[in-house]
Amino acid sequence: MFTNHIDSTEYYSLAVNTKIVNHKSLILVLKSFITSITKQKINQSNREYPTSRKPNSMIPFTDKVVDSEVLQKAIDRYREKGVILPTFAQMQNPELVPDKIKEKLKTIGLWDLHPLNLFRITWKNEPKALGGLYGKPNYIELPKALTGIDARIVVMLGKWFPTGAHKVGAAYGCLAPRIITGQFDPSYHKAVWPSTGNYCRGGAFDSYLMDVTAVAILPEEMSKERFSWLREIGAEVIATPGCESNVKEIYDKCWEIKRTRKDCMVFNQFEEFGNSCWHYEVTGHAVEEVYKDVAGKDSQMSAYISATGSAGTIAAGDYLRTKFPHLKVVASEALQCPTLLRNGFGGHRIEGIGDKHVPWIHNVKNTNVVTAIDDEYCMRLLRLFNEKEGHEYLAANGVDRETLAKLDMIGISGIGNILSAIKTAKHFDMTADDVIITIATDSAEMYGSRLEELTADRGKYTVLQAAKDHEKCMFGTTPDYMKDLTYDDQKAIHNLKYFTWIEQQEKDVEDLRQLWDDRHIWPKIFSQPARWDEMINEFNDRTGLLK
Ligand SMILES: Cc1ncc(COP(=O)(O)O)c(C=O)c1O
Repeated sequence: MFTNHIDSTEYYSLAVNTKIVNHKSLILVLKSFITSITKQKINQSNREYPTSRKPNSMIPFTDKVVDSEVLQKAIDRYREKGVILPTFAQMQNPELVPDKIKEKLKTIGLWDLHPLNLFRITWKNEPKALGGLYGKPNYIELPKALTGIDARIVVMLGKWFPTGAHKVGAAYGCLAPRIITGQFDPSYHKAVWPSTGNYCRGGAFDSYLMDVTAVAILPEEMSKERFSWLREIGAEVIATPGCESNVKEIYDKCWEIKRTRKDCMVFNQFEEFGNSCWHYEVTGHAVEEVYKDVAGKDSQMSAYISATGSAGTIAAGDYLRTKFPHLKVVASEALQCPTLLRNGFGGHRIEGIGDKHVPWIHNVKNTNVVTAIDDEYCMRLLRLFNEKEGHEYLAANGVDRETLAKLDMIGISGIGNILSAIKTAKHFDMTADDVIITIATDSAEMYGSRLEELTADRGKYTVLQAAKDHEKCMFGTTPDYMKDLTYDDQKAIHNLKYFTWIEQQEKDVEDLRQLWDDRHIWPKIFSQPARWDEMINEFNDRTGLLK
């Protein structure tokens, strides 16, 4: 009976004409009127989005050219600078990379600031510092002598991405779609990368390769290695107050930049679906491939574990659940900042995760379990994995040489993920048939100064200390501080987004509802890379660099 275009007088006369005169009915009529006004407001605001929106959808999609002049400028510039953009399909399956690019990569180092290193944004780089091509995704399976459990724990290694962390992928997933749709002019815009570390580094690296000026924003207490590398690569570096979990301060800086620097485009990884789309498409498939590689006759892919920072990496779980519907997707966080577990807050030492809020891009309906890991356990195991005495102890207790040689490929959050895997295996009574796959976003290479600080603080590492650390922190990990999420728990976590995204970051509450209510919205979001690939191919055709 009511339409969106009815006005208040019409409502009143409708009420009278239909003899709706009692208070209850009038309230109902007014409610309908307010709903209709809200809908009109949403319809109007839809028109203001620069990106196109699908019918019946309010979340913006990046699937059309927004400004063809800006796009042409980018094409001309990239032709001149020799920048070719890889497709998501090529990052997923580098066999598709043209031979002439592969040939040139043979003389290019993994971290070199060379535009062709965009073709090394993949899990499948040969583990080589110079001239590597492609093989299987990089991973390590941890033996029972190390983990103490029967369930199999496999760790994907981000170390073999340029910059030593997979965040170059998340950053590419954000920047490339803006370029191919003519929203970002590399000759004018600067790309702002707010993060607690690796995403800044990935963004700055990709920017350099894509001939874009980068602005990195990160908390002042992050490790020295992160700051010095960013400065070396020529990014403008802005340090915000606090540590790992002071993300609000980073957001405040972003708003200041948005207000005052028109040439800056902020790529906020916590709200950019390009981040989660990259992981869905690239990490998701890589994990599936690793599972196929390790699976035995009776194996099952039982859990995928990801520590959540921006909740990009955990989106690989969304892909995996389309293949293994019974899979548990587990989000880990620091016990010192248990936001998902108990709306908690606090500083912690697991760099890269746990930012006292729920990222906009986190599809919480697809997260089954939350675990909180004591950061002290991570720091003790960082020493065990990287000190000579630690290896001596582990070797004497049955850990093979090959595994020992790879333990330095796992950074602090990766150690947290292993502990989360142990908790998950113990909680769900998993056996040797159960395969748990998790992620080491980066390696110990990023935490040299942390190891030095630990030695300065606690004295030289000893075999006795190694024994204590292994027993207590690995074998002694118990299925506490974790939650097997019910529908209500998931919804409570999703609702927590309100306070960051609606109250502080000016998102539309209807979009928040859509992310929960519309069962088609996440598949649609994750289907964008197919369209981006078409546009990337067209872009490369127009630069003519692949001819
Ligand atoms: C070391 C480390 N671990 C884990 C994460 C979390 O990954 P995501 O942001 O995809 O949730 C990050 C993110 O930057 C990180 O740098």
